[in-house]
Amino acid sequence: MLVTINEVLKPAHKAGYAVGAFNVYNLETAQAVIAAAELENSPVIMAVSEKAIEYAGFDNLTALLIEMAERSKVPVVVHLDHGTNLHTVKKCITCGFSSVMFDASTLPENERIRTTKEIAKFTHKHDIMIEGERDGLAGQEDDIEGEGRYTNPETAAVFVEETNIDAFAVSIGNAHGIPTPDEKLDFPRLEQIAKNVAVPLVLHGASGTPPSQIKQAISLGISKINIDTDLRLSFMATVHDVLINNPELKDPRKMLTEVKKAMTEVVKTKIRLFGSNGRI
Ligand code: 13P
Repeated sequence: MLVTINEVLKPAHKAGYAVGAFNVYNLETAQAVIAAAELENSPVIMAVSEKAIEYAGFDNLTALLIEMAERSKVPVVVHLDHGTNLHTVKKCITCGFSSVMFDASTLPENERIRTTKEIAKFTHKHDIMIEGERDGLAGQEDDIEGEGRYTNPETAAVFVEETNIDAFAVSIGNAHGIPTPDEKLDFPRLEQIAKNVAVPLVLHGASGTPPSQIKQAISLGISKINIDTDLRLSFMATVHDVLINNPELKDPRKMLTEVKKAMTEVVKTKIRLFGSNGRI
């Protein structure tokens, strides 16, 4: 069933587990995410970036994902990931997205609170919860390369309070894309942010983050965890293997069936790591 993000994040925040937000951009990624969530009896978030919208076409992707979420046996959130303007946020909400994120990190410092507050006012009028990001992550996501600024726990408290957002994305050493070997989460910083901020916290850039760090982050208040790169890598590695092993293959569906199986396994593993399995 299609649900709002409040319905999945509030229980997670209370019980101390996290819900996975997996980036989807076509039929196969969406099928893999929902199949894994159903097999694990877990709520799940399908995250849609602006780049995914550009790739698949807004109407195509919206129709596909909302229909799939509604038919699913488990709670599924259809969520705008890293929205950068009110126009996209409005369009997503009007067309049935059940959650949005607004990423203010690329705006000038003095614009971030005002713009996020304005967008939060709009989403709340439509009973939609909003995730906010103030500081930006290092690494690469789609075509956007970030330098990464650590979240200051005091500034975070002011940002959440003033903007009235419902979930807050932290920058604590996490990075989008393939992790560098020295990537390490700053747990004392996370602990302080969690003390200062009452809303659920979100960890972006969690592909490749070691399971022990993920578990510690959840124990310190992370309730939503974003995964994109691990699914992309699984997709591409499977395409590669299938083609190497079956150079004469003529039916793409045979290859994509293997791709879906591999991505489903990745999502299942993450769901178990995040502790959202068996929660419905
Ligand atoms: P990864 O690139 O680490 O998978 O992060 C995805 C993400 O944070 C999407 O918002």
